[in-house]
Amino acid sequence: MQDNFSWGPGALLPGIERHTLRKLDVLRDYLDVYFDTIVSDPRLDCLNITLVDGFAGGGAYQNGDEIADGSPLVLLHAVERARERLNRNRKKPLEINARFFFIDDKKNHIDALYERLHHDGFSPQIGREITVIKGKFSEELPDILTSIKAVQRAGRSIFVLDQFGYTDVPMESIRLIFSQLERPEVLLTFAIDGVLNYLQQDSSTLERYRQLGIDDHFIAEWNANKHDPALGRLISQRALMANIQMGSGADYFTPFMLWSPTDSRWMMFAHLSRHQAARDKMLGVHWQAQNSFRHLGRGSLFSLGFDTRLLEAKDALFNFAAHDKQKMIQELLGEVPREISIHMKERQLPVEHFLRMIGNRTAATNEDLFSAIKELALSREIEVISKKGTSKRIGSKIEITDRLVLPLQGTFFPLN
Ligand SMILES: C[S@@+](CC[C@H](N)C(=O)[O-])C[C@H]1O[C@@H](n2cnc3c(N)ncnc32)[C@H](O)[C@@H]1O
Repeated sequence: MQDNFSWGPGALLPGIERHTLRKLDVLRDYLDVYFDTIVSDPRLDCLNITLVDGFAGGGAYQNGDEIADGSPLVLLHAVERARERLNRNRKKPLEINARFFFIDDKKNHIDALYERLHHDGFSPQIGREITVIKGKFSEELPDILTSIKAVQRAGRSIFVLDQFGYTDVPMESIRLIFSQLERPEVLLTFAIDGVLNYLQQDSSTLERYRQLGIDDHFIAEWNANKHDPALGRLISQRALMANIQMGSGADYFTPFMLWSPTDSRWMMFAHLSRHQAARDKMLGVHWQAQNSFRHLGRGSLFSLGFDTRLLEAKDALFNFAAHDKQKMIQELLGEVPREISIHMKERQLPVEHFLRMIGNRTAATNEDLFSAIKELALSREIEVISKKGTSKRIGSKIEITDRLVLPLQGTFFPLN
């Protein structure tokens, strides 16, 4: 364990590194967007939610002269902020019933966390809304799931799984979350380079690698590509992401990479969910946090998995910066027609269906995709039908309830 993740009661706080700070910023921003989105219905008067921090740590870091919140405090403060913000202009007050589970397997870290919770004024909630557990996440998970299901029908929950390496969140735990709850979301940290750096010829015989889909073929590809300084490693990272996605049981998977200069390795920070809308919100947060996260290859449409063509294409790393956005929008205009035509049935495609199909294969937000569709409508390549069944005026806003229809004449669309 690194010194910068080491806590103790009464001890100096660990320093925080830039990439950890960025990760916690993304968590904070995502939670704000999350609450704003799910309670946007003014009729809603009560929200039940459970927030689980499976690798809680000691709750705070030293950031220069300031103290930065660790993930458990980020969760608590996000709920406090949401209660205040969302009730500001409401006629009908909104009650947020949030429960928190904070788990860590180190006694010193748990003691430091208690100290931090008392210091920050959360003492009255400990043992009520807040449950602190000293234990291993994967062993505590089944009881936590039972407790969520006992009081929340839809099981609305957020799991922050900020492990240091890659073995403490077994794929089985993620599958369990997605098989037992209707509305969970998972934010997973995964030391993707940690896996690759220690791969041996016979690693495919070990369960900790097998559960990640690492077989002899994967190891052969890694050995063949790893010496390419620019992209060899990234190609295997991408293949590993595809395996994690498949093994997780989540429908939507948004993996992006964070560089840790201290350890000289890439970390994966992934968002897993069942809903396209949740993925869209997370992508929006990544675009706001420009330049900290990376993705290999194009942002417009890509597929995870081994793709050695990237070595020849020498595609630049995608950065979520302004010029990446411009390039991505240009590429989308070229790629979206083909994507639409592939998924059309009887020359029609509901927009919602299109978003589901694009699903995990783009860094574009729904708004970016809608603007590409609008451009196609402007050039009369496509007709947009509203939910009332009438043709929409060219140039009007695209909505998720619309349908895309191929005009009878004059389309340049590639038809299958
Ligand atoms: C990277 S640190 C977490 C940092 C924290 N999430 C934050 O953002 O402030 C990882 C933490 O996980 C704890 N840990 C390691 N293995 C664990 C396991 N199997 N179950 C629960 N906690 C574990 C460590 O003691 C350490 O406090």
